[in-house]
Amino acid sequence: MNRLNDDENTRAGGRRRAGQGVHPTEGRVARAGPLTIIVGREAGYCFGVERALRLAGEATATHPAPVSTLGPIIHNPAVVEQLAQRGIGSVESIEAATPGGTIVVRSHGVPPQVIGEARKRGFTVVNATCPRVTVAQRRVAELSEAGYRIIILGEHEHPEVVALAACAGPGAIIVEDPKALRAGAVRNKRVGIVVQTTQASASLAELVRLVAPLARETIVHNTICEATERRQQAARELAAEVDVVLVLGGRNSANTRRLAQLCREVQPRTYHLERAADLGAEMIEGAARVGITTGASTPDEEIDAAIDALRRLVQG
Ligand code: F3S
Repeated sequence: MNRLNDDENTRAGGRRRAGQGVHPTEGRVARAGPLTIIVGREAGYCFGVERALRLAGEATATHPAPVSTLGPIIHNPAVVEQLAQRGIGSVESIEAATPGGTIVVRSHGVPPQVIGEARKRGFTVVNATCPRVTVAQRRVAELSEAGYRIIILGEHEHPEVVALAACAGPGAIIVEDPKALRAGAVRNKRVGIVVQTTQASASLAELVRLVAPLARETIVHNTICEATERRQQAARELAAEVDVVLVLGGRNSANTRRLAQLCREVQPRTYHLERAADLGAEMIEGAARVGITTGASTPDEEIDAAIDALRRLVQG
């Protein structure tokens, strides 16, 4: 039996909010002298990142100090710096946090054991795990309980994947490249597949194509976030329309790196910039149309800063 369960993708998880039909920058076009700048649909924070930042901010007013995030709350050094200035620090482990304070779990989530340990040690825990990541964690736990061999499609060291693997218990296989999966690991097995929320759907399709003919049974939970899919689709369309693409976001942001890679496949003149200040005149040389898109943890201010930087470059 091979089943595809994509019910998670029918739930709202993207950036659009109630009463707001479109992203504020959707279709936004700006000018810099002769240069046309097009901001991709879906650019800016995703729903999960916005929520995590809001919860962390609220915690400073309502929860015991000091408030610390477990790891940088998002993969964006500039935003992490701003939070530190507002008194929201970042610690690498519970052991490094000040006793009696508040720990904020970031949108990627952490292994459930970490939350249990933090509470046991007397910390107040604000769980800002993105609801879509929570769904993926739940699916892994259910499959594990039902005795499936679990395959997680995602990056080995990524915190979201580390947490998913912890929910799976021993024996879960993490696959970064579907082609690297050994046939013996799934042959005649009952296999359950769950996906890191920011993976590309083509990669999932390839994994399913390889596993399904070998496995005795395959259950696929398509836990790719629909906000990610929309962002990737919009970025591909943008890349096809412009001469240069600027992808703004932290170098340590997996979803930004993937976005840059997807854009590069369509438009080789794609640059991944951590901040607008990294923009160089040579990047836009001879271009008439420049596209801007961002990872899920890049604020709208960075888009404005990039537009300003382009204007300064054009004005010489
Ligand atoms: Fe959540 Fe999707 Fe963002 S999983 S953190 S809404 S990219």
